[in-house]
Amino acid sequence: MKLPLLLLLSFAGCAFAQIVPRQAWCRQPLSPRMPRLAVPVRLIIIHHTASAPCYTPQQCQAALQQIRTGHLLRKFRDIGYNFLIGGDGRIYEGLGFGIRGEHSPHYNSQSIGVAFIGNFQRTLPSPQMLQAARTLITIAVQRRQVLPNYSLVGHCQTKATACPGRQLLDELRKWPRWQPKP
Ligand SMILES: *[C@@H]1O[C@H](CO)[C@@H](O)[C@H](O)[C@H]1NC(C)=O
Ligand SMILES: [Zn+2]
Repeated sequence: MKLPLLLLLSFAGCAFAQIVPRQAWCRQPLSPRMPRLAVPVRLIIIHHTASAPCYTPQQCQAALQQIRTGHLLRKFRDIGYNFLIGGDGRIYEGLGFGIRGEHSPHYNSQSIGVAFIGNFQRTLPSPQMLQAARTLITIAVQRRQVLPNYSLVGHCQTKATACPGRQLLDELRKWPRWQPKP
């Protein structure tokens, strides 16, 4: 009896993997006038925030608020990413599914933008962060927000930028649906 129970539990852990909802870190609800994203999209674009890392839910919530404030100062409609991965290993809803992001000019209407909080030029995200991103991708495909044959790329593959950092890009190259071109 022990093994099936364990299997069941790990299945449940996967199926109900938590995405921390936006209202957990942001008091302002998303404007109902945000542009919609026609789903499923064909691209997942990975970013880093190039900001300080966060390690606890409290730090990560503060980091998300700072990132959003920075994006508003740059005249974005809201935080620019669909989702963010915290150093606490949690998946945070930014714009969420179905909303067009502001993260990769020319590709926003064809993609979901996922940002790792921190700078990954010289260090890799923790295994928990990498696992959280893989879980998010699985959820996105299951919910038909992303095509099953999606392409995974780093931001620097769409324009000249260091984002998502050299170490993180080297890791992404090993992922099953990474593509050399968007
Ligand atoms: C991916 O799947 C879609 C829908 O099934 C299809 O239209 C498209 O051609 C496929 N793209 C690639 C690159 O295989
Ligand atoms: Zn980027």
